[in-house]
Amino acid sequence: MRYFRFFFIVVVLFLVVNCRPPADQVYQDPHLRQADSLLQLLSLEEKAGQMTNIGLTALTEGPFWNDYDTLVLDTAKLRHFLLDNHVGSIQNKGIYPPSKEEWHRLVKQIQDFVASKAKHNIPVIFGMDAVHGANYTAGSTLFPHQIGLAASWNPDLVRTTGKITAYEMRASSLSWNYAPVLDVSMQPLWGRIFETFGEDTHMHNVMGKAFVEGMQGASVSDTTSVAACLKHFVGYGTPFSGKDRTPAYIPEHYLRQYYIEPFRHAIDAGALTVMLNSGSVNGIPGHADEYLITDVLKGELGLKGFVLSDWEDVGRLVTVHRVAKDAREAAKIAVMAGLDMSMVPYDASFANDVVDLVNSGEIPMSRIDDAVRRILYVKFKMGLFDASYHDPAGYDMFGSEEFAQRSYEAALESITLLKNKDDILPLEHGANILISGPAADALTALNGPWSRTWAGDDPTYDDPGKKTFLQAMQSAYGQHRVTYTPGTDYEGDVEDKEHLLQKASQADVIFLALGERPATEKPSDILELNLPENQTELVRRLHESGKPIVLVLLQGRPRVIREIEPLAEAILMAYWPGHEGGEALASLISGKSNPSSKLPYTWPRYSGSLYTYQHKGSERLGQTFEMDGFNPQWEFGYGLSYTSFHYDDLVLSDDTIGSNETLTLSVRLTNTGDHAGKEVVQLYLRDMIASITPDDRKLIAFDKVFLEPAQSKTLTFTVEYDDLKFVDIDNRWVAERGEFQVMIGGKPENLLIESFYLYK
Ligand code: BGC
Repeated sequence: MRYFRFFFIVVVLFLVVNCRPPADQVYQDPHLRQADSLLQLLSLEEKAGQMTNIGLTALTEGPFWNDYDTLVLDTAKLRHFLLDNHVGSIQNKGIYPPSKEEWHRLVKQIQDFVASKAKHNIPVIFGMDAVHGANYTAGSTLFPHQIGLAASWNPDLVRTTGKITAYEMRASSLSWNYAPVLDVSMQPLWGRIFETFGEDTHMHNVMGKAFVEGMQGASVSDTTSVAACLKHFVGYGTPFSGKDRTPAYIPEHYLRQYYIEPFRHAIDAGALTVMLNSGSVNGIPGHADEYLITDVLKGELGLKGFVLSDWEDVGRLVTVHRVAKDAREAAKIAVMAGLDMSMVPYDASFANDVVDLVNSGEIPMSRIDDAVRRILYVKFKMGLFDASYHDPAGYDMFGSEEFAQRSYEAALESITLLKNKDDILPLEHGANILISGPAADALTALNGPWSRTWAGDDPTYDDPGKKTFLQAMQSAYGQHRVTYTPGTDYEGDVEDKEHLLQKASQADVIFLALGERPATEKPSDILELNLPENQTELVRRLHESGKPIVLVLLQGRPRVIREIEPLAEAILMAYWPGHEGGEALASLISGKSNPSSKLPYTWPRYSGSLYTYQHKGSERLGQTFEMDGFNPQWEFGYGLSYTSFHYDDLVLSDDTIGSNETLTLSVRLTNTGDHAGKEVVQLYLRDMIASITPDDRKLIAFDKVFLEPAQSKTLTFTVEYDDLKFVDIDNRWVAERGEFQVMIGGKPENLLIESFYLYK
């Protein structure tokens, strides 16, 4: 009996010590202390409710998916979810984008309901995909998507985008953003590549950090800041098949080297929440991966806040991944793997399963306490207990001209000039212009997905006063100079050739706005990377006119255009540049502004040759055993300007480096053309010999520099010892002795190179 008592005391002590964060941690962070005190008061049912996230339309009149044109909260549903099931988190919207006043009414009604009726008055945390501005609030500022921001190579623009997005979300009483997307994507077929910062890890590290800093400001509780939710941990962006939510196969050393780092940088910058990968990596679904969620994300990366599932993904452990036999088992697997909150989002079944699993002893209370402590911690940290909604009248900058100007500046720097034969651009005023193509006269073609609606393809929700590409060109060149014919849709029939040629006969130049119909997630899966045949046919027919053609591409992915590229004199890749994209294109075309963007991914020439810039030596080996197999249409980092830049005087401070030492590199950059312009200076490192086949090169730093014609500047960079490291086969970051090359410049095909050695 004595032994039994002793054993009992040891077990209790073990639980007390292990189920709570270390005392010094609790007492050092007041929000953790508050979270911990509140946690002690909650019943198991209340805790399970905190772990549940439902869709807004689970609370409104009508079915979950409805096309009502008003969102009316249903009191019985509020009672069912928020009181009976203690649900602590809500997300998303219905079909249409509410105004900021309507958001305020909805959020206020929900929070007031909880505050007046629920036992502990715990405010709801409201999540939203504000991925390029507060895109689900009518009248908000819409920015270029992340891929365009990456193409600007300008983190200041990303920081500003994050800041304005946060301001306009808070103006809508929303304070938790499902952004940024940190899925490094080495798969151009994947439809969501436009939501990422492209194919490079360093770019994601820098831009993700800037986005989080902009959004979260000095404190997430500020009334102009929101909390970031990084997504989708991890490996989601490189599915083997290229289809959304399908398996990725990524060895752990590559996961660590390329895919996990952006999350580490954003967490170090203060991000508190993370959403999981809907797909699987190496056969383990993202929502079942205890090693990645608990050991790596929460342990090694030190995530202090909580981990959220993606849409319905606990259920998909049963229906799609088949690692669980029913919803109850799926809940157990996910929670035990480290999931803290499930985006169910239709009902409260997850909460009921959690209660049952704890009661049966299959999930220990310590795991539930850890999850709920994390959730409450974030709610305290965000200041939700002090103010869970805001008066929209206090946000007079919402949708302002000034914010639109910031979006315009971002769009200007995001659009990449890919070809400019015989300097056909800038195009002088007085030219007669024919504009055609499915993306020419649509705001949806500028904003892309996640714009007012999920797909972003419904013109019903167009904002008044914004200009399409066609309208912006008419303003810039004069209504009478610009004619238009649709030509074709994104897919489908092409206008009759005679009609097209007759239109072309009156023009000096033809602009064809082509691309992809806005779509994301599963609807963005494609069968073919080539630009659809009807659009290439439009180019061919108009080429017969003999008039110069300029292609303007509005799309997320780098679609293969090998066959029509020679038919165009100039090509502009606009990605999805946002509401001011039409104006920005007209400004670049007319020479009012100078392009300064570079590709954030490798542009394939063939859909059967999908390589990234990091590629290995064996990917350069061609069919005749020459090193000519890597032959993209355009390389990562490629982009033209109306001026030219020259690099010389590369000086490296030493030709050797030791452990933990730093080298300094300087180079002179001169604007040798006759336009003022900004140059993207790219610094790469090449490891000549390594125990794991080294990459062709890796980006370690970049800068964007403005120079007047004939102006020179000497730029200085550092090469750190840590830059030399890669993850070895034992998953450790190592630098191996031997030769390295630094490579610097603005044109990937023409970099200045210098060697140095690491001796240890
Ligand atoms: C997407 C997420 C998004 C969530 C909520 C999911 O289907 O994969 O990126 O945040 O829906 O809208």
